[in-house]
Amino acid sequence: MIGKDVAKAASLLSDGLLVGIPTETVYGLAANALDAKAVAEIYRVKNRPQFNPLIIHCASIEEAKKYVKNWSSTVNLLATTFWPGSISFLLPKTDLVPDLITAGSHKVVVRVPNHPLTLDLLSQLDFPLAAPSANISNTVSPTNADHVENTIGSQLSYVLDGGSCSIGVESTIVGFEDEKVVIHREGGVTREAIKALGLEIVINKAKAIHTPGQLKRHYATSTPLLVVDSIEQWIEENPNTRAIALLYAKRDLGIKTIILSKNYSLSEIANNLFGAMRIADTTDAEAIVVEPIINEGIGRAIADRLARAAAQ
Ligand code: TXA
Ligand code: MG
Repeated sequence: MIGKDVAKAASLLSDGLLVGIPTETVYGLAANALDAKAVAEIYRVKNRPQFNPLIIHCASIEEAKKYVKNWSSTVNLLATTFWPGSISFLLPKTDLVPDLITAGSHKVVVRVPNHPLTLDLLSQLDFPLAAPSANISNTVSPTNADHVENTIGSQLSYVLDGGSCSIGVESTIVGFEDEKVVIHREGGVTREAIKALGLEIVINKAKAIHTPGQLKRHYATSTPLLVVDSIEQWIEENPNTRAIALLYAKRDLGIKTIILSKNYSLSEIANNLFGAMRIADTTDAEAIVVEPIINEGIGRAIADRLARAAAQ
């Protein structure tokens, strides 16, 4: 059932049940993070391997600090600058965090999401919320309440409807090496914004940590998605394949298209990407074609999601 009743969502979560929640990035599949039974249900409904850990969502910096250690001046600068918002911190966990949340790791990922309904909800609860994106593992993340309701809705007690997500791609996940910021997942808060604080950035090397959600194939549509250098050329070379193109600006191609932005606005493209992938997947197209995106700002997060959606 979908609705805007925060008190109802709070009461269901307090009973150990699952609720779809809005955030500014994507919708989450939430449960009481301190209730191992409720958390196990998240893994079951998402069909998520138990080795893939979950993010915990808190109402405030003060709340988040209860669940992590090593709150350095760098972490504090990022938190006070960007929270509530689209950056998550990978830090050593305290004993309050059940091992099921972290898949046995001694580190946990935390964030304070920036959505008025969910902040209100979190402030009514005396526990944090574990919430992966509210989709079946490896499929496209949901950016509105209908996406959640129409896929896993029957397995949830409620979907809290907070409208469309304002960012549209997941949070940036960062860890820390001394005072350097290690980027584990590109997302809503850009590298440029982190650098502007005077912080040094290191890109996560393959060996650095086990981040299973970073598996190559992820965010997949059932129609193959192809990242091609030139859509015109691709059409010429594949005249018999029915395709739909995702475009970064208006263009006439003679095939079906979905325009993600009228004028290559990266924030607009991020905002529309997952919804457009879902729509493209419902058409009779045999391929979804899209060109590479500029590697800057939130373009990096978009490029990452496209590459994973395209991976075989
Ligand atoms: O924007 C977001 O972050 C959304 C909204 C709902 O908050 N959540 C989200 O969660 O994207 P999920 O579970 O779909 O992605 C979390 C990622 C996964 O790649 C997971 O492997 C990684 O974070 N992760 C979580 N805890 C971790 C840990 N302790 N160590 C390493 N990686 C971790
Ligand atoms: Mg996800």
